[in-house]
Amino acid sequence: MRSRVSSMAAGSSVEWLKSVKAVVLDMCGVLYDSAEGGGQAIAGSAEAVRRLMDSGVTVRFCTNETQNTRERFLQKLRVMGFDISVSHVFSPAPALIHILKERGLRPHLLVHDDLLPEFDGVDMSSPNCVVIGDAADNFSYQNLNEAFRVLIGLEKPLLFSLGQGRYYKETDGLKLDVGVFMKALEYACDVQAEVVGKPSAEFFQTVLSDMKLQPHEVVMIGDDLLNDVGGAQRCGMKGLQVRTGKYRPSDEQHPSVRADAYVDDLAAAVNAILTDH
Ligand SMILES: *[C@@H]1O[C@H](CO)[C@@H](O)[C@H](O)[C@H]1NC(C)=O
Ligand SMILES: *[C@@H]1O[C@H](CO)[C@@H](O)[C@H](O)[C@H]1NC(C)=O
Ligand SMILES: [Mg+2]
Repeated sequence: MRSRVSSMAAGSSVEWLKSVKAVVLDMCGVLYDSAEGGGQAIAGSAEAVRRLMDSGVTVRFCTNETQNTRERFLQKLRVMGFDISVSHVFSPAPALIHILKERGLRPHLLVHDDLLPEFDGVDMSSPNCVVIGDAADNFSYQNLNEAFRVLIGLEKPLLFSLGQGRYYKETDGLKLDVGVFMKALEYACDVQAEVVGKPSAEFFQTVLSDMKLQPHEVVMIGDDLLNDVGGAQRCGMKGLQVRTGKYRPSDEQHPSVRADAYVDDLAAAVNAILTDH
């Protein structure tokens, strides 16, 4: 039988897992599999999250979700058995709002209608930058063209993108993701977007600052080798890949990114972390 937890280098142990002070969890593909109108919890993951939180290990969540406010997103997760507080969830929109405030920027938004409440209280008068997110059905020609007009009309066109995925899968098929539309605006205005979200170091850094921990004390657990594991490792965190969600066996032979450990699922990861903790 294959061992439930295997570390990358043959023979080396995953002892380090027992001494981590904090765990940062990716959500889609680790906690649940997405489906139209909600999703389904991955077996054992809700209990695993509960055990982890009860153990006193610091837990944060890191997602690239940009179609919903965090509140709405967490309501869906509650139905699946996860009890997570909004202040523990890091998603691109709040990280971007932090950047906008720091730099005195006023955005023109091209985002999903359901994400708009995250921007309550943000000054959007006479915009001096454009923000694009996964707007899905709100990516109409008219909305795209309006964002284009604002962007090209700026003295120094400034474009932010909430993620840069090419496409994703929902139950009714593949969907174009925000990166495609980001490229269109980049092309039209000859600019390069600043991407906010995984795998950017700035994004992971906001989570580390919130926990007030050093990167080596923290492990990121995700199903996406490049964005979760690779991104976290570049910040000095450990990166663990679960064999759920978008994981593919070929990830374990990737030429440039190697997880510090590969684990069957979140429940197995939590077992390894909590042994003798
Ligand atoms: C966004 O899409 C929804 C659903 O198709 C639509 O009702 C709404 O008017 C759109 N909003 C904008 C700003 O395009
Ligand atoms: C972002 O989220 C979508 C689901 O909304 C997922 O399919 C996609 O792979 C994610 N991209 C990254 C970079 O994590
Ligand atoms: Mg994921």
